Amino acid sequence: MTPKTFKIKSFGCQMNVYDGERMAELLSEQGMSAAADGTDADLVVLNTCHIREKAAEKAYSDVGRLRREDGSKPLIALAGCVAQAEGAEAMRRSPMIDLVVGPQAYHRLPDMVAQVGRGARPVDIDMPAISKFDAMPSRRRAGPSAFLTIQEGCDKFCTYCVVPYTRGAEISRPQGDIVTEAHALVDAGAREITLLGQNVNAWDDGETNFADLIRTLAKIDGLERIRYTTSHPVNMSDALIAAHGEIDKLMPYLHLPVQSGSNRVLKAMNRSHTVESYLRTIEKMRATRSDIALSGDFIVGFPGESDAEFEDTLNIVDAVGYASAYSFKYSARPGTPAATMEDQIAREIMDERLQRLQERITAHSMAFNRSKVGVDTQILIERKGRYAGQMIGKSPWLQSVHLDTDAQAGDIIDVTLVAAGPNSMTGAARELVAA
Ligand code: 5AD
Ligand code: SF4
Repeated sequence: MTPKTFKIKSFGCQMNVYDGERMAELLSEQGMSAAADGTDADLVVLNTCHIREKAAEKAYSDVGRLRREDGSKPLIALAGCVAQAEGAEAMRRSPMIDLVVGPQAYHRLPDMVAQVGRGARPVDIDMPAISKFDAMPSRRRAGPSAFLTIQEGCDKFCTYCVVPYTRGAEISRPQGDIVTEAHALVDAGAREITLLGQNVNAWDDGETNFADLIRTLAKIDGLERIRYTTSHPVNMSDALIAAHGEIDKLMPYLHLPVQSGSNRVLKAMNRSHTVESYLRTIEKMRATRSDIALSGDFIVGFPGESDAEFEDTLNIVDAVGYASAYSFKYSARPGTPAATMEDQIAREIMDERLQRLQERITAHSMAFNRSKVGVDTQILIERKGRYAGQMIGKSPWLQSVHLDTDAQAGDIIDVTLVAAGPNSMTGAARELVAA
């Protein structure tokens, strides 16, 4: 039977959200429609994440839960990074899975669904030289804030990370394709575009550098805000830093993972930057754009991390004063060099370190948010809030702002920030700037 409705469940990072949207567009183009919330779909795509603990186990249990009460099941596609890592093994582990499609092959999804209809169980985890993007339909739907993947893959091989294995080598999409997609997103209603890549600031199509790409995108009428994520410290060029001082549409926010505050641990992680070089980059960024909101990623309990080395991580959090940050317990990923290192850290120690780190980060987030109380700024309205008349939008510093206003999603309005919480702000609307 050919499926008529589909549901895509994306887990993990923003790139998976983007990939999920693209798969939805592809399936819609084939005449399928998105299943309404709470209803059964004929086709379910599990767009999985493999970055941390028990990812594969979680994916298999999600598959199991798709069995319906009457014993039937939808057509099940395993997609994303677990699909890439498991490949044909997924078919052996779960007889319920009908097809396995990796992140570089999902343009083939409609064809693979048709093969299932003919009784096959196709697996495609190839990383073809020809970009899947060329095979994708153009963008027709977008919210006020849209994602646009410009770079994929990673050549950095941090010793803890599966990404170089699941997403492959670094590739950059050509500038022309990116500009075309950005125009389509703006025509479809986007006011803000977040450029995505595992190493987004390593983007280089052989002709243009990343700062010039941003400059080109900033010329698009109707596109009001540009962001990018995730950046690697070694690719934080002077040209990109300078762009933050020159391009008004480039928002004052930078997600720049450091992972650890200890040079010994950074070396063992193969991070190719030091605490000092990272702090110099931050200093340059602040000299260019003093109000920049900084964010980062941290791993606690990397093999061999001593108490003193963990204290160094707390110290770098204090030194930078992050507006927000994500922190994770180290998770041994099969096939990565760190998984077989000696001195794996006990779970209780990791738990305790994570809690201390998160408390420290929250204190800095709170301080950052408090420093913005009383500030007049502009908010891009994204969606309705919980109460009648309440809307939620984003400040330039990527804070969620709750406010009462008649403005609609996609509007940009003048707002005074009036109160701060650890995770969001309250705003008072002043006037509509651009509708
Ligand atoms: N264990 C814990 N955290 C990890 N990350 C990546 N791999 C691992 C791992 N094996 C974290 C890093 C990265 C973020 C996306 O996930 O902090 O920046
Ligand atoms: Fe993973 Fe390191 Fe590449 Fe980031 S830079 S995706 S942490 S290998």
